[in-house]
Amino acid sequence: MFSALFLILLGLATGASAKLHKIIIGTFSTESLYTVQYNDVLEDLTLVAQSAASAASSWITLNHDRTKLYGTNWDSQEPTWISYDVTDPYDIKVEAKIIAGSMCSGSKSIFVNAYQEKPYSVYGNYYYGDARCSTVLSVHKNGTLKEVIQEYVYLPGSAVHGTAITPDGCFLLSADTEGNLIWTHRIDQVTGTLSNVSVIEGPSDGSGPRHLTIHKNGNYAYVVFEESSEVVQYSIGKDGTLSPVGDIYSLLRKGQDPANYWADEVSLSRENNYLWATNRARNNTQKEYVSAFQLNPTGDICSSEPFQRLHRRFDG
Ligand SMILES: *[C@@H]1O[C@H](CO)[C@@H](O)[C@H](O)[C@H]1NC(C)=O
Ligand SMILES: *[C@@H]1O[C@H](CO)[C@@H](O)[C@H](O)[C@H]1NC(C)=O
Ligand SMILES: *[C@@H]1O[C@H](CO)[C@@H](O)[C@H](O)[C@H]1NC(C)=O
Repeated sequence: MFSALFLILLGLATGASAKLHKIIIGTFSTESLYTVQYNDVLEDLTLVAQSAASAASSWITLNHDRTKLYGTNWDSQEPTWISYDVTDPYDIKVEAKIIAGSMCSGSKSIFVNAYQEKPYSVYGNYYYGDARCSTVLSVHKNGTLKEVIQEYVYLPGSAVHGTAITPDGCFLLSADTEGNLIWTHRIDQVTGTLSNVSVIEGPSDGSGPRHLTIHKNGNYAYVVFEESSEVVQYSIGKDGTLSPVGDIYSLLRKGQDPANYWADEVSLSRENNYLWATNRARNNTQKEYVSAFQLNPTGDICSSEPFQRLHRRFDG
């Protein structure tokens, strides 16, 4: 249900000359955050710092001005959220640890997302155990996590592994892997709290929506399905309601059995002209893939097959 690590870019290239970007990496297996420098001309990575995290933050996300980082806590059997100061990315500091989950205990924090405008609320999701609940947290003026302001319920049996916020800040979409559902919640833009709008089922029984990403034009969401190893494009209506568009795109080649794979991540290139989706192997004899799809300028997937598949695990 998880990837080996999650990383995010702190810097973005703006010109043709070499730039050094900082990437912060959290893991499932160490109580550290790693800062790696990427040189975009040499295309190499250098480990430049390791900061004590006091939790295995297997999922992390930056706040709007990139001074704070919010993370999950893989080591805790209670859904826990960690707030880091990243003003100095070479010396990341733990500032707060908030245990949520009075409504649903015995589950783990799995995913965290941050609202990029006022009130800069933070959305945290649970997995394993009783994971039908999720949490909305507020932040202090300086961006440090403050407190739980809302616990809300999906459905019994739900477990949301990923969320995405529409570019207009109106809706939070949730990929409910265990419930095989994709939810739309309206975001109250004053308080940051959520209200349920609508829900749609996955394309097949147990397809397992895992993560989603939204086109910058706000018209489409792309969802990756963990169990069926597929990607589907959804149009986002004015009220945030989703409807599937076009085909179901398989991440597998002919003859490959979905039971041997579990699809993982979906993301858009910076210009939103490519969609990438990753697929993990459940079996050491299988190879894992990154698939690339071309998007047209309005955000539609151009071809029924990915135009490229790159292996990310090699024989031996
Ligand atoms: C941020 O604000 C909170 C609450 O006022 C405070 O406890 C914390 O120390 C502040 N953090 C920094 C880095 O100033
Ligand atoms: C809220 O969630 C339920 C599923 O529990 C769904 O059937 C319903 O349509 C949703 N929307 C509203 C406005 O309640
Ligand atoms: C891995 O997959 C191959 C091909 O489907 C199968 O023959 C083999 O038994 C599998 N091995 C394990 C350990 O599941």
